[in-house]
Amino acid sequence: MGEGAAERSNREWLEGVYDKLLIKMKAECARVGTDIPYSPGEDGMYHDTEDITGWTNGFWPGMLWQMYHATGDEAYRAVAEGVERRLEVVLNDPEALGHDLGFMFLQSSVANYRKTGDREARRRGLLAAAELAARYNLDGKFIRAWVGPRDSEQGRKMGGGDIRGWMIIDSMMNLPLLYWASQELDDPRYCKIAVSHAKTAQQYIVRPDGSCNHIVAFDPDTGEYLNSPGGQGYGQGSSWSRGQSWAVYGFALSYRHTQDPSFLDTAKQCAHYCIANMAVTDWLPLVDYRQPAQPVKYDSTAAVITACGLLEIAGHVEENEARFYTEAAYRILRACEARFADWDPARDSILTGGTYFYHDPTGKNTEVPIIYADYFLIEAVLRLKGKELFEW
Ligand code: GLY
Repeated sequence: MGEGAAERSNREWLEGVYDKLLIKMKAECARVGTDIPYSPGEDGMYHDTEDITGWTNGFWPGMLWQMYHATGDEAYRAVAEGVERRLEVVLNDPEALGHDLGFMFLQSSVANYRKTGDREARRRGLLAAAELAARYNLDGKFIRAWVGPRDSEQGRKMGGGDIRGWMIIDSMMNLPLLYWASQELDDPRYCKIAVSHAKTAQQYIVRPDGSCNHIVAFDPDTGEYLNSPGGQGYGQGSSWSRGQSWAVYGFALSYRHTQDPSFLDTAKQCAHYCIANMAVTDWLPLVDYRQPAQPVKYDSTAAVITACGLLEIAGHVEENEARFYTEAAYRILRACEARFADWDPARDSILTGGTYFYHDPTGKNTEVPIIYADYFLIEAVLRLKGKELFEW
């Protein structure tokens, strides 16, 4: 069958975005170098991170590895390697490292190793995997999320409680570091920890309608289930859209690595919930699918992560079913790009519209550019172009 009007329109959009991406990323790479960006400053430009242990520090090298893979331009590789060397120091500070070792080292060291076979990068990736595996709570059968003592600032901020017993939906995206280590070492231990965590997340985080808790609290000593604090969304029982997107993509990735069909079912269940919600907001996700009608606040990061998750699901189903997920991904990407993209190569960052958490009295974290919105946009565009480096 020939190309229909909708497919042609999607293809033309994709070609246009890819061309703009090449220009923007070349300029950014030359300007930013081995600084590690998060969000542009008031001057519209990226500045170096003030916290080398920050959870988002892997996304810049992750973007550069994607661009190196797509274009073969050595400038991307040189900068990505420089950033990776800077990140190594955090592996010597286990008390500063939470579950985000996956985000930090899959997109830097493991991406490097997958692309170039570099043995030092492999060593760093394996060290990160060992530290992530060590966060597993044997009684609760989950990977502990955040760092800090029993009475921590973060625990108080998120509704009270002892964060030593907290698991969060975001961790689903860190599990691929463990799947990778198991495969690399031909040792099932890491994979078993990842699967056990994912099963606990299915049981306690995902609700029957496909919505998710952000946080689930267990007693850290006995593993007994306690409750579900509100987290970064609107509140307890609500539905934080980035958390939903981590669920869609995270469970789809657990399916890819294990072939356990229940993980694909869970990914679809969460995907259908997200699609249903975005279909009534012009394909843009609210910060929380259960936020009050006013004020309207969006999160572009949830959009692009969800799109990547839908494309991952599309890769595991028959062609007739894949069309549904691919078309939904296009609708989300196109809506997000139309509303939030800035392709001017003289300014840093592509997407604005990222919201870090719902309750933001300063407004500084609401609908702003956030580095990982760009990472997932690039990943989605390159995947649709057949030029993506698999980084998970
Ligand atoms: N993983 C932290 C967040 O999504 O905000």
